[in-house]
Amino acid sequence: MKVFIVYCHPSEDSFTKKMCDAFIRGITDSGNEYMISDLYKMNFDPSMTEQEYLRDAYYRNTLEPAEDVRAEQEKINSADAIAFIYPVFWTEAPAKLAGWFDRVWTYGFAYGEKTMKMLDKAIILCSAGNSLEHLEQFGLLDSMKRVMLGDRLYGRAKEMEFVVFGNTSRENELRERNWNRNLQKAYDRGKNLFAQTTVSGKSI
Ligand SMILES: Cc1cc2nc3c(=O)[nH]c(=O)nc-3n(C[C@H](O)[C@H](O)[C@H](O)COP(=O)(O)O)c2cc1C
Repeated sequence: MKVFIVYCHPSEDSFTKKMCDAFIRGITDSGNEYMISDLYKMNFDPSMTEQEYLRDAYYRNTLEPAEDVRAEQEKINSADAIAFIYPVFWTEAPAKLAGWFDRVWTYGFAYGEKTMKMLDKAIILCSAGNSLEHLEQFGLLDSMKRVMLGDRLYGRAKEMEFVVFGNTSRENELRERNWNRNLQKAYDRGKNLFAQTTVSGKSI
């Protein structure tokens, strides 16, 4: 089985990078394969052109998606699962990843007469500076989940899971204290990705 990882963080010196590495180790240790789009390394352009906008807004199939968009769509259709790994920025994915959805989720691929395959699994692993309690108390966790699971991934994967690693800001002493345990969790998610039945929308 193969998972396509969409990874988005501007720096290698980050918890998110280590979390991505641990997830990948879990994937390969379980005998599965992965492909990765590292959006910063690829310098992925998140800005929609006017032509792309008109194509999607007017439900037109006439314009072929750009080459970089088609490459991402091909990776999706050759995978069994998709994983998104990123830090939470202002209760959202970083702009590069939000723009990835704007451009890759084209009319005729992700909506309309869809050519995007129904994936077996979709998993989101994200790091947040705030605690889960804080994110829950203010409805922010729910809002992030709704956007990712209830909109962007809805109807595009059979099983979905949203995993947030809280308390990861550098000023928080829990960042270091939970470090190994969190990386172990990321590893386990990779190792069990194709083995485990997950509950839609469950967070840890
Ligand atoms: C521009 C920016 C915006 C952020 N917004 C949020 C936020 O809305 N909620 C939150 O919990 N953490 C937020 N954070 C904290 C990051 O999610 C946190 O620093 C990161 O997950 C730490 O992991 P890292 O070592 O992988 O960067 C923000 C950080 C930055 C740099």
